[in-house]
Amino acid sequence: MSRSSEVAAFYKLDLPQRLKVVREFANLTEEEANIIQQGGGLKLDLADRMIENVIGTMPLPLGIATNFLVNGRDYLVPMAIEEASVVAAASNAAKMARVKGGFVTSNTGPVMIGQIQAAGMKNPFAAKMDLIVAKDEILKKANDQDPILIKLGGGAKDIEVKVIDTITGPMVITELIVDCRDAMGANAVNTMCEAVAPIVERVSKGKVYLRIISNLATKRLVRSKAVFDKEALGGEEVVDGIIQAYAFAHADPYRCATHNKGIMNGIIAVGLACGQDIRALEAGAHSYASRSGRYSPLTAWEKNEDGDAVGTIELPIAVGLIGGAAAVHPVAKANLKILGVKSAIELAEVMASVGLAQNLAALRALAAEGIQRGHMKLHARNIAVTVGAKGEQIDIIAQRMVEERRIRMDRAKELLEELTAKRS
Ligand code: MEV
Repeated sequence: MSRSSEVAAFYKLDLPQRLKVVREFANLTEEEANIIQQGGGLKLDLADRMIENVIGTMPLPLGIATNFLVNGRDYLVPMAIEEASVVAAASNAAKMARVKGGFVTSNTGPVMIGQIQAAGMKNPFAAKMDLIVAKDEILKKANDQDPILIKLGGGAKDIEVKVIDTITGPMVITELIVDCRDAMGANAVNTMCEAVAPIVERVSKGKVYLRIISNLATKRLVRSKAVFDKEALGGEEVVDGIIQAYAFAHADPYRCATHNKGIMNGIIAVGLACGQDIRALEAGAHSYASRSGRYSPLTAWEKNEDGDAVGTIELPIAVGLIGGAAAVHPVAKANLKILGVKSAIELAEVMASVGLAQNLAALRALAAEGIQRGHMKLHARNIAVTVGAKGEQIDIIAQRMVEERRIRMDRAKELLEELTAKRS
C-alpha cells in the first residue's frame, strides 16, 4: 500500500476500518493495534508506578489527523483530545497545505537551558566573571553526570551567566546550555544543575538556591511554514479575512490568547498522544509568546504575490522519545510508531506543523462562517448521549436538534422519549 497520509474519506470509515488503514500505514503489530483499541492500554500496575495515589486511569478519545506532508514526508498524526472538531480541522488544513507542497520546517536543535540561582554575594559582576572563567570545570562536572548523552553527541555545551535585579537584591544566574538529543531533557538537565551547584557556590561566593531547567526553551525552537492555496481556502477574500484575524491577535492580547489556544489545541493533542509533558509545552509556548513584553501570536500570516495565504509558526517544543511516558506508556509508544518519527526534533517539527494547520483552520472558519455550526453538530451528539440516547438514537436526536436549532437537554429528552415510545 502507498505511504500517503491522504486517505480518501477516512472519517467515513468505521472504527475498525480506520484502525486497519493506520495499521497498514505504520506496520503496527496485532498487539499494538489491540493496545490502541482497548481504550487506554495502560495497565493499573504500570500506572501505579508512574504517579502516586493511583486509583485508575483516564482514557481520552484518540483520533488520527490525515493529509500531513512535512518536508516531503507523509505522516498520519495521532491526536488525543476531548474537544470535537480539532482532528477534522487539522486534517482539512493539512489537505489544503498539500496543494502547494505541504509544510517545510527548521529547528535550532534539541537544546535546553538549566538555571542555577546564586544570591547574597557582595560583588555580583565579579562573580559573573569568575563563573565564566570556571566554565570548563562547570561543564566537565555537568557532563560527568550523563556519559550516555555525551556518547550520543549531546551534553552540556556552554554556560551563560547573567546578573539580574530582584526584589531581594541582585542575583547571579548561571545557565547550562545542554544538548538533550532525543530526550526532553528535564531529568538530565536538573541532575547537571544540582551537580554543578557546589562549584557555582564556591566560585560565586554566594549562596545557591534553585537548580532547575527552564521551560522557556528559546534554544529549542521549531519553525514550520506552509502556503495555503487561495482557491483551496475559498477565495482571496478568505485569505484577507485570515490576515485580518492575525492582525487582531497581533494587536490585542485578549484575542491573542484564544489565537494561541487554537494552535495549542493541535500541539497538545499530539503531545498527549505521544506521552509528552504537555505542561512544559504550554509553559514554553506562552512564555515565548510573551518574550517581547507583549503577548504575541505564535504564528504569522501574509499574502503572497499569487494571493495565497502564507503561514509561519515559531515556538519552543521540548519533546523526547526516550525517558518519560513516551518510553513506557504502551499507547504513546504505539502512537510514536504510527507517526514514524526517528528523532525528538522530527516529532517537534510535525507538532509545529499541526499547530500551524490548526491555526489556519480556526482563522479560516472564524473569518468566514464562524465555528459554531460545526461545533453544534458535535455538541448536539454529546447532549443526546447525556440524556441517555444509545446507538443510532444519538444521530437521529442530534440531527433533529440541529435542524430545529434547539440544541438543548430538555429537547433531547423529549426526542428520546418519542423514539422510545415509537419502538415499544
Ligand atoms: C477553540 O478550541 C479554538 C478557537 O477558539 C481558536 C481561535 O479562536 O483561533 C477556535
